[in-house]
Amino acid sequence: MSMRNSIIATSVLMLGLACAPPSHATCIPKGLATQAPQDPVARVLAAQDACPKNAVEFVDVLKRSGARLEPTMVNFVGFHNPDHGAFFIFEIVSSDGVPPSGIAIQRGDLLFGHFTAVTGDKRLVSFKSNEDLVIELIAWDPGKGFYNFYELSEGDWVYRGDSEAILNDVQRLHRQRKASEKPFAETLRCSGCHINGGLLQKELTPPHNDWFTRERQLPLGTLKPDSFVKGRLADLVDAGELSKLVAESPRRLAESPGYRKVLTARTMQERLRPLFCPMEVNIESDSEPFDDHKSTVQIPSAFFIDPRLAAAGISVRREDYDAALQKLHSRLPKTPDGRVDADHGWLTPVKAHSDIVAVDSLIEQGAVSKEIAVAVLGVDFTNPLFSKTRCGLLKLVPDMGGSDFVARFQEALRGASVLGATELLNNLSDPARNAAAHEKQAAAFLGMCQQRAADPGAVLDWYRLLAQRRIEVSASEISRNPNGHILEDEPRDAGRIVFPSSQPRAVAGDLELTLACQVQQRNP
Ligand code: HEC
Repeated sequence: MSMRNSIIATSVLMLGLACAPPSHATCIPKGLATQAPQDPVARVLAAQDACPKNAVEFVDVLKRSGARLEPTMVNFVGFHNPDHGAFFIFEIVSSDGVPPSGIAIQRGDLLFGHFTAVTGDKRLVSFKSNEDLVIELIAWDPGKGFYNFYELSEGDWVYRGDSEAILNDVQRLHRQRKASEKPFAETLRCSGCHINGGLLQKELTPPHNDWFTRERQLPLGTLKPDSFVKGRLADLVDAGELSKLVAESPRRLAESPGYRKVLTARTMQERLRPLFCPMEVNIESDSEPFDDHKSTVQIPSAFFIDPRLAAAGISVRREDYDAALQKLHSRLPKTPDGRVDADHGWLTPVKAHSDIVAVDSLIEQGAVSKEIAVAVLGVDFTNPLFSKTRCGLLKLVPDMGGSDFVARFQEALRGASVLGATELLNNLSDPARNAAAHEKQAAAFLGMCQQRAADPGAVLDWYRLLAQRRIEVSASEISRNPNGHILEDEPRDAGRIVFPSSQPRAVAGDLELTLACQVQQRNP
């Protein structure tokens, strides 16, 4: 026995004599409250002798513990733009908890994102850095009944906060503020984009424009994936697998007793906010790839109107769409071949699914009636997402709920001179202006849009409005968190490319749709 081994043997013996359990360094994220959470991130890390230092090691840890990994992938700078090597990989982790690790993880309880980078010789590798973010994770905490947000950043595993901390961060968003107050507090950067406190995927519905799907796989160009990236690519699942979990997430929060308790303690303005104002956004588009040159382009119905009021297919001639793109100098930024449009036409921001579910849940729980919800949606209804008029009315919502809530709200509206107050008051008071009447009016409006769809002039005007709606995402208060915006297009978000640009530059709030589905200048 060598000297070295004998020293080890001796110390093991001494430990044994002292009856102490073998000392076992585990990985504990920084920033945790004293009570360790029971979410899968904390549990998986606690079972390690040392902290995984990057995505390669973390994937290895999960695989060795018997977990199943389902990676999804999106190109950060556009479907047809592989050369930057800027892919985001979001993985769904689940495990049935059999030994060796024995940690059961339900699908939807642990998701994490990591990134790729390109080397000088065009190898596609995992992004590794000691100075930067390398993994971000969201885990369901069964003790709290909502999500915990973590990251591996600058070499450290850090707990950043939870769904409740996000509610705190966004407390002032879209609401009355003192001059010194900002729309976002900055406890955790995650609140800049995961504004509803849960999972997020902007291109939530098919065709998932910039994502890998079974039917339409992301091109890699001349990139040569290394063995780790190759392994992730081999396991890729359709973007729709992530969508299912993201779409369930707001309902999961709304129905969780822990989260309900937190939310119910908030003001009615915070609870009803997603009814009046945008919190998150989703992105929809034509379902056919732009390069397939089908004879028509489908405009998502939610471009024209909130899906809760009405929905209808509206398609325009491809030649009219092409003419509009040309006239307005449409270009997808920073693409090598100067593409005119994204992988799918008519990419448009729409009312977020998470916003809609949050309000549906309040209706189901009796916090607000469907009639009131529709009365609000009926205000400025041809502007379904970024209506300043509708969102401005949030400030008149009484803080306290209760049986006389509507009466107090009506009282506040009666005394107010803000735009839309009289209209909403009438909607809430006049029995003829009920939900059925609003839905009828909405259907009639969509009928007008359908009629106008054959007119090339209408297509051009609508495209101008589309360009405006795109820039309105960045102009909205939801994009005022200095730590990140939902489109991730600002320089500090590393320059995500989502929408084509156009000329002349659109101006937020400039154009509006009339009841006849015509575009006109908005009155100042
Ligand atoms: C700049 C905006 C932004 C910020 C800030 C941000 N995220 Fe995200 N995150 C996104 C978007 C967007 C997606 C979905 C990808 C898409 O839609 O293109 C996403 C997806 C994720 C996913 C995959 C699961 C899901 O929700 O789809 C995880 C995990 C995640 N983010 C964790 C975090 C954590 C943890 C933080 C804070 C430490 C954070 N993110 C901050 C924008 C952001």
